[in-house]
Amino acid sequence: MAKVSIIGAGNVGATAADVIARSNFCHEVVLVDVKEGLAEGKALDIAQTSPLLGFDTKIRGVTNDYKAIADSDIVVITAGRPRSPGMSRDDLVHVNAEILKSVIEPAIFYAPNAIFIVVTNPLDTMAYYAYKLSKLPSQRVIGMAGVLDTARYRYFIAQELNCSVQDIEAMLLGGHGDTMVPLPRYSMVGGIPVTNLISKDRLDAIIERTKFGGGEITKLIGTSAWYAPGTAIAQMVASIILDQKRILPCSVYLNGQYDLHDIYLGVPIKLGRNGVEEIIQLALNDEEKALLHQSAEAVRSMNAVLRF
Ligand code: NAI
Ligand code: 2OP
Repeated sequence: MAKVSIIGAGNVGATAADVIARSNFCHEVVLVDVKEGLAEGKALDIAQTSPLLGFDTKIRGVTNDYKAIADSDIVVITAGRPRSPGMSRDDLVHVNAEILKSVIEPAIFYAPNAIFIVVTNPLDTMAYYAYKLSKLPSQRVIGMAGVLDTARYRYFIAQELNCSVQDIEAMLLGGHGDTMVPLPRYSMVGGIPVTNLISKDRLDAIIERTKFGGGEITKLIGTSAWYAPGTAIAQMVASIILDQKRILPCSVYLNGQYDLHDIYLGVPIKLGRNGVEEIIQLALNDEEKALLHQSAEAVRSMNAVLRF
């Protein structure tokens, strides 16, 4: 009997609700938005796909009525402004910090035992801010980015090799931004290191495309992506609700791991019913370590804007 609430019924939040509802592993999904009628309307539309798709998940939407999220197992925060063309994730920081602040307080009040998944950008800074504001144990505040970024990376690798995406396993570290660190050494195609199959030049081009994967879509459609982000959220939600203990890259609180302190950053974790059940520490070479620390510096400079 799991209940998942999603704050922000925009493109990403509604897509996550849709994917979660149709996957049929939750009893109830609640959508919340500030915009009058938006969450109600989208919830109704998704609910009306249930006879067609054959799922029993209850889904309802509310306008700013946080009582509806009471006793949620997971609260996903997608409330915020998306990036418009030419706008960096970092430009969003002040406006989205205000939105996050207004969401966290009632969400904690009504769902004090929930695991929080933060999606709002700039992601690593917002996850850190949510952790500080909520005062929850860090195991229960997790940022979504790496699952999306690795999906993009895996898709590009499969395209390059003209093979099934199902055989691509990949890992990346760092912040959700242009400094993310895809790890070719830890990326496999059917168990074969990707470095054996793709030349360095082509792999470098794929890594660059992955780093700017969000911007590529924003440029094409005038706002940021939602299908892959919403589906990535659903994968994290499933891993928690079903206690799958999947090993996924997520933005989590580091305090000593990877020689980094007091920061949210993307690393591989074991994600289960208790949230972050383990932070996996990979053996990095000097170059990978330097790139990860560069990425941490970029995130720290964004955190500094909010003067924690
Ligand atoms: P959107 O504009 O479609 O939806 C945002 C929704 O939040 C709107 O419906 C808006 O009314 C609502 N909202 C604003 N303030 C609110 C409040 N105080 N309480 C409740 N709802 C509120 O935007 P979209 O595309 O869904 O993106 C949402 C956020 O997710 C953005 O910050 C975007 O940058 C971020 N994002 C993060 C990704 C990641 O990998 N972490 C991937 C894609 C988007
Ligand atoms: C993305 O990567 C903008 O963070 C958003 O699509």
